[in-house]
Amino acid sequence: MFDTMTVTKAAGALIGALLFLMLANWAADGLFHVGSSESGDHGEQAQAYTIPVEDAGGGAEAEEEQIDFEALMAAADPAAGEKDFGKCRACHKLDGSDGVGPHLNGVVGRAVASVSGFAYSSAMVDHVAEEPTWTVEALQEFLANPKADVPGTKMTFAGLKKPEDRADLIAYLQAQQ
Ligand code: HEC
Repeated sequence: MFDTMTVTKAAGALIGALLFLMLANWAADGLFHVGSSESGDHGEQAQAYTIPVEDAGGGAEAEEEQIDFEALMAAADPAAGEKDFGKCRACHKLDGSDGVGPHLNGVVGRAVASVSGFAYSSAMVDHVAEEPTWTVEALQEFLANPKADVPGTKMTFAGLKKPEDRADLIAYLQAQQ
């Protein structure tokens, strides 16, 4: 009798636990699916990769983005750009001497891969054919994602994701001659 009670209780507890696990699993599954198929992937990608995705699409979308960027340049803040340049300083100087990367004073409007004496990667040298000059547009594309814009570049920098930050930084560089 006592044994039977114990067994019954134990079985009850076990079944209860299994049921709980099943429910928990099911609930977690539901949450996971909602997260990944609706808000998760899509939402994040749309936020983090707006610019690169548009670049890849090319054509009309790229044009649309350039117009946006002109407006951003008009509103750019060189003082904020100076702070953003802190991310470049480890490799780039503004006094005409080269470090890990070529000097960046005068880079806006300068020919791509044109600092004599600096050993550019062949990827950057080849990039000249595609983009001969560091225009504001060329810079903003490169700085968004250097490795995507110039595959094989030896500039190991992840990129500045915010178009506003890129505009500020380019405005700052424009003033460094
Ligand atoms: C870890 C070092 C490093 C950092 C950080 C870095 N760069 Fe560079 N950068 C390089 C190197 C190396 C090259 C040469 C790339 C090549 O030859 O492929 C380069 C090349 C460039 C060029 C092309 C210059 C030319 O003469 O054609 C520009 C423009 C540039 N970097 C801008 C920036 C800016 C702006 C930042 C900060 C947001 C930055 N880089 C951060 C290392 C760096």
